[in-house]
Amino acid sequence: MKRLAVTGAAIAGALALAGCGTSNASKASDSAGASRAELSVGASYMPQPVSADMAAGFLTITNRGGTKDELTSVTSDSAGEITMHETKGGAMEEVDSFEVPAHGQLVFKSGGNHLMFEKLKRRPEQGDTITLKLKFAESGPLTVEMPVKSATYNPSTGH
Ligand code: CU
Repeated sequence: MKRLAVTGAAIAGALALAGCGTSNASKASDSAGASRAELSVGASYMPQPVSADMAAGFLTITNRGGTKDELTSVTSDSAGEITMHETKGGAMEEVDSFEVPAHGQLVFKSGGNHLMFEKLKRRPEQGDTITLKLKFAESGPLTVEMPVKSATYNPSTGH
């Protein structure tokens, strides 16, 4: 009887360890496989626009995965339309999608790629937050809380 009790405890212990190991194992296989994009968003902001007609937005999408993905659309309840633009030789051009490279970043910044908000419900003011939904070709959608900064905000100086 004593021996059985010990065995039971040992089994319970083994089960607990196995339960613990399961999450580690799945994490390990995610990165070992490296077959999917792993996206996160940072450094988002909108400089306070002069009117509700048009505003620009910037953010950085980081992909820690081993497969590229594609940003295919950006939507927000605050704006009737959001388009994606790239800047080439000083002129901007609307594009349908942007690639998020494997182990890389898609950067939207002043003077370069940017999001263009049109038909805003009202003029965004410093201190507001604009909620965006980013959609991708492969990954699930991401929600971004984009803060509205001063009209002259510069991310490298922080003001
Ligand atoms: Cu533009």
